[in-house]
This record gives sequence, structure tokens and C-alpha cells, in this order.
Amino acid sequence: MKLFVDSGDLAKIREIADVYPIRGITTNPKILARIGEKLTPLMPMYKSFAEEKDLKIFFQVTAKRAEEMASQAEKLRLYFGNRLIVKIPATREGYKAVRLCAENNIPTAVTAVHSILQATIAASAGAAYVAPYISHIDNIGADGVACVAGMIKAFQLSGTKCEILGASFRTVDQVKGLELSGCHAATIAPELFDSLIAHPSTDAAMAGFERIWAEAYGTKEITDFLPENLR
Ligand code: G3P
Repeated sequence: MKLFVDSGDLAKIREIADVYPIRGITTNPKILARIGEKLTPLMPMYKSFAEEKDLKIFFQVTAKRAEEMASQAEKLRLYFGNRLIVKIPATREGYKAVRLCAENNIPTAVTAVHSILQATIAASAGAAYVAPYISHIDNIGADGVACVAGMIKAFQLSGTKCEILGASFRTVDQVKGLELSGCHAATIAPELFDSLIAHPSTDAAMAGFERIWAEAYGTKEITDFLPENLR
């Protein structure tokens, strides 16, 4: 499953991109609203960071009408180029905008998806991605992971190229559930990344290695035992 970082905070994005094999950055109006007034100077910084690291970058339109959404998509695409994916909400106007963007060869991600039919219709409309909101689905008493499993089955039946980009994760278990269901991608908040790989048994194993090594070789490092020119 491809990983994306769901954030507009460049310091955090950099930190995650330094460690984890992420394929891109996703944002949404809520994420960007937290940044406030600094957004104008941040745009070129997002652009150059995405170029430097060869990442996809997702921005969501804020317009309400399909034609305006498509026009915002075009402007965003002009600025960010081919690595941009335009996020469009799964609303009636949004579906129309997805079709307009598809006619214009602008890749879209239909976002705030909460049902299998929202996803399959987005795929038929020409979306490159659909973004189901796992925690939101869980929080209405349904099952986000099961919903994605249903989308995957429906996508396989139709043979669509559209990818499922799971979003809105609160727990490691939700991410694992999507991984096991064969989901294409997941976008994850910076705060959750370290928990994906943390394991107390790994920490215990490392503590054991360090103690036993120190008892045997003190402060020496493994490379101190190589031929002198490599130490
Ligand atoms: O990418 C979608 C995500 O940011 C929305 O999730 O759970 O913060 O509303 P949430």
C-alpha cells in the first residue's frame, strides 16, 4: 500500500519524508486553514519540496459550483504541474467537476467518500483516486475497513484503474485493515507514522543487543573491526 502524508505543515512533512517511503502529500481545507495567513508564501515551498522529492501533491478545490471547481483545478494544475492531483468533494457538483476535469486531462481524487456507490460512480466519472474517510465511517456506526474492502471488490469487478486512497485514520489497526484488504494507498497524519512501526518487542531486542555488545566490546562500533582504511 502506497503511503502519503496528510499534512500542510512543511516541517512535519519533511520529517516524515526523511524517514518513510512516502509517495506524496495530501492536504484539505481543514489542514490548510490551520496554517492561516502564511499560505501564499507556502505555495512555492510546497511546489519545490514536491519537485525535489518527486512527490505527488493533492490540493482540494474550494469552489461550490462544478464549472468553478474545474476552473480552480486548471489553475492549480498550471501552477503545480503534472504532480498535482485535484481533490474534489463527492457532491453532485463535484461529480460534474470530475467529468469536466477528465475531459481536460486533469487527474482528480474524489474526497470525503463514505460509501461504495460514491466510490464506484467517482471511478466511472473518471477520477484517478477516491478517498474514503475511514474514521468518519466508523464514527457513524459503520465499518470503514469493511467499506473499503467492498470498494476494492467493486473496483476489481469493473476493472477500473481508479485507486483507493484511504484517509482519516486514528489507529494503527485501521491502517492494517486497509493494508490487508489490498487497498492501493493510505494518507496518514504525521503523528501516526511512528506508531505504524513501533513495537515494544523490537525495543526490548535492541536493548538486549546493546547491553551484550557493550559487555563484550565496550564502546567499539562494528566498523572498528574492519581493515584500518575503512574504520
Ligand atoms: O485526508 C482526510 C482527512 O484529513 C480528514 O480526516 O479525520 O481529520 O476529518 P479527519
